[in-house]
Amino acid sequence: MYNSKIIGLGFYVPDNIVTNDDLTKIMDTSDEWVQERTGIKERRWITEGSDDTTATMGAKAAKIAIERAGIDKDDIDFIILATLSPDYYFPGPGVQIQHILDIKTVGALDVRNQCSGFVYALSVADQYIKTGMYKNILVIGSELHSRGLDKTTRGRGVSVIFGDGAGAVVLSREENPKKGILSTHLHSQGEFAEELTVIAPAMGKRWVTDILKDNDPDDISYTPYMNGQFVFKNAVVRFNEVIMEGLLTNNLKKEDIDMLIPHQANLRISQFVQKKFALTDDQIYNNIMQYGNTTAASIPIALTEAWEQGKIKEGDLVVLAAFGSGFTWASAIIRW
Ligand code: ACO
Repeated sequence: MYNSKIIGLGFYVPDNIVTNDDLTKIMDTSDEWVQERTGIKERRWITEGSDDTTATMGAKAAKIAIERAGIDKDDIDFIILATLSPDYYFPGPGVQIQHILDIKTVGALDVRNQCSGFVYALSVADQYIKTGMYKNILVIGSELHSRGLDKTTRGRGVSVIFGDGAGAVVLSREENPKKGILSTHLHSQGEFAEELTVIAPAMGKRWVTDILKDNDPDDISYTPYMNGQFVFKNAVVRFNEVIMEGLLTNNLKKEDIDMLIPHQANLRISQFVQKKFALTDDQIYNNIMQYGNTTAASIPIALTEAWEQGKIKEGDLVVLAAFGSGFTWASAIIRW
C-alpha cells in the first residue's frame, strides 16, 4: 500500500468581478445584506460572450497544477472531475478536459457531490493510488454557476452566494506512510436532497434565462432552491462532526491542526467552525469574500491560494472539510 500526496496545485477564475453593488442594479439587494449574511463582497461571473465553461476553466486550473507538479501531461494516469454545473447534461466535463489538455486516452471520471465533490474526488483518487493502480491523478473541481442562477429578486436568496471558478491538484504516489493523505471521511443523507437542489437540468450551453423565455417564465425548476437556514444549521453540525472524525481516526487533537480549509459555503459557517475548534486566523483560510461560493471548486481554489501565500508548509497538518447539497459532507486529513 502507498500513500498519496498533492504535488501540484492550480486555480483559475474568470476576470469579470461582480460586486454586491453591481447586483443591486439587477435585483433588490444590498451590499450590507449580502456581507452581513454571507461575508461575500464580490464574485466572478463570466461575461455573456465568454468562452469559459466548466470544462475550459477546469482545464486551465489543471494545466497550472500539472506544471507545478513538474510532470508531463502524459504522466497523468486518471482524471477525476467534480462539478454540479457540467457543460452538457452528458457527457461530464472530465472527458472534455482530457481532450482540451491533449492527455492520452486515460480514464476520466465525473463526481456529482456538489459542495463535497472535491473531497469525494480526492478520496476516490487516494484509493486508486493506495492500491498502486495509478500513480498520478488529476483531481479537479470546476463550476460555472452564473449561467444557472435566477438573477432577479425572486432568486436573490441563492444567486448572490455563488461564483464561477475552478481548482485542481495532481495527486501522486507517496512512499512514506506518515505523509500525504492520512484518511478521508465521506457521508450522505439523501433524506434532505430537496433542501438544496435543482430539479431540472440546465441543458447544454444555453443560459437558463433563455430557456425560461422559451418556456413558462414561472417554471423555477431550472434554478437552485435552497432552504438556507436549514442548510446552515446542518452545515455547522456536520462540519464539526466530520473534522472530529478525521482527527480521532488519526489520534490527533484539534490543537494539531495547522491549516483548516473549509468549503467556502458562507463566512459565518467558517467562523462558527473556527470558534468551535479554537483556531486562530492563521489556522483557517477563507476567500469567500472575493469569490463567493464556488461549490466543488471552492476547496481547491482556497487550498491553492493558501499554498501560494506560504501558509502551508512541509509537515503541516492540513484539514479539508465540506458540506453541501445531498446532503453530503466529507473531510480529508493531510500531512503536507
Ligand atoms: N438581499 C436582500 N434581501 C434578501 C436577499 C438578498 N440577496 N435574499 C433574501 N433576502 C430577504 C428574504 O426575502 C427575507 O425577506 P422577508 O423577511 O421580507 O421575507 C429576508 O431577507 C430573510 O431571508 P432568509 O432566507 O431568512 O435569510 P437568512 O438570514 O436565512 O440568510 C442565507 C439567507 C444567507 C442563505 C442563510 O440562510 C445562509 O447562509 N444559509 C446557509 C446556506 C449556505 O451557506 N449555503 C451555501 C450553499 S450550500 C453549501 O455550500 C453548504
